[in-house]
Amino acid sequence: MTLRDRRVQYETAGLDRAEMAEDPVQQFAAWYQQAAEAGVAEPNAFTLSTVDHRGVPNARVVLARGVDERGVTFYTNYASAKSREVAASTTAAGTFAWLDLHRQLRFRGDVVRLSTTESDEYFASRPRESQLGAWASPQSEVINDRAELEQRLARVRDRFGDEPVPRPDGWGGWLITPSEWEFWQGRPNRLHDRFRYTRSGSGWMLQRLAP
Ligand SMILES: Cc1cc2nc3c(=O)[nH]c(=O)nc-3n(C[C@H](O)[C@H](O)[C@H](O)COP(=O)(O)O)c2cc1C
Repeated sequence: MTLRDRRVQYETAGLDRAEMAEDPVQQFAAWYQQAAEAGVAEPNAFTLSTVDHRGVPNARVVLARGVDERGVTFYTNYASAKSREVAASTTAAGTFAWLDLHRQLRFRGDVVRLSTTESDEYFASRPRESQLGAWASPQSEVINDRAELEQRLARVRDRFGDEPVPRPDGWGGWLITPSEWEFWQGRPNRLHDRFRYTRSGSGWMLQRLAP
């Protein structure tokens, strides 16, 4: 493996302040659409960064299920490591990496649980197998082997039969309300473009950062 000498020259068009949307959610929407149209795999996937009770960082990929004026929503098990961490710190950071487009988007802010109504609605929209999986998996806990997981799934299948699968109390959504968003576009010679939106009153302040 020769990672040391691997270099890609980013020839992509740059970012111009005049072309950045007033609002980072609009800018997100434009970039998300471009990533989806470019065929980027899982364009709604982002790395969710949290800190544990000692302040040690932790990170993993989750799927954004909504990005709007309120912020970024994702769904998970409420007893998982990530949920325990965001519940305790009430903050999180996220990073989308659309590498085919030489783009990165970071955000961070406060986190709250979504309402049970919103989590119910989203849960009901999931494929049945994913619904059953949410019941079967004690996410982030140590398990003995794959067979244990499959036995749990079989028990959940028996339990619900042909009935609709309700949302488990221990599963639902979180909303991250960013106070900062940073859009990064790779440029030649490592002179990349970075623009940071910071919340300012009811609007946003936009600043260019050195790469
Ligand atoms: C592409 C991708 C998408 C994922 N989406 C989710 C998700 O939306 N929710 C989730 O709980 N885990 C998702 N995962 C799994 C998480 O990365 C992680 O393994 C799991 O949530 C347990 O994390 P934790 O122990 O830190 O809580 C995804 C993983 C990948 C690679």
